[in-house]
Amino acid sequence: MRDPSTPRQQEVLLATPSELRDRIRQLGKPAARADDPRLAQVHAILSELGAQPGPLLPVLHAVQDAFGCIPPELVGPIAEGLNLSRAEVHGVITYYHHFRSEPAGRHVLEVCRAESCQAMGSEALWHEACAGLGLPAGGGTTVDGALTLEPVYCLGLCAQSPAAMLDGHPHARLDTGRMSSLVARSVEAA
Ligand code: FES
Repeated sequence: MRDPSTPRQQEVLLATPSELRDRIRQLGKPAARADDPRLAQVHAILSELGAQPGPLLPVLHAVQDAFGCIPPELVGPIAEGLNLSRAEVHGVITYYHHFRSEPAGRHVLEVCRAESCQAMGSEALWHEACAGLGLPAGGGTTVDGALTLEPVYCLGLCAQSPAAMLDGHPHARLDTGRMSSLVARSVEAA
């Protein structure tokens, strides 16, 4: 089999059957009911941003800022408002790691898994963090909602690899000890 050439292809190939089932379930979720109060906010966002060129990303950012995630049941109304298919909107949401379908934990730790960081040992750090937090190999949110661990593909800190971002603050030249203390600090502070 040909080697996967992009992080997204790698992620799809590395996804467990239950993660893939989850993604299919998200796409199959029904649209929000007409009396859902979130729809008014989505319509306000669409009227503010929907007419500009290339509106999908700004709309998705605004929806995630409003609700902490892009709830799957709002994908239909967003698609309809922008004259796109649900699959197109879903494809963009799943392509960009920044977008999430469920709210994040109280802290978010993004670990860089791109080439430069990989070359400096980020894969081992990633897997140790997943195992230490009891999360699957693809990361996720701890059961107590304290921490979301997710991959990111380059933080612009390649010269100081391996790197990570905790709640928007960069941390560079990580090793096992520094990564464990980042994880422990965020779980304790949650
Ligand atoms: S590859 Fe990790 S910061 Fe660029």
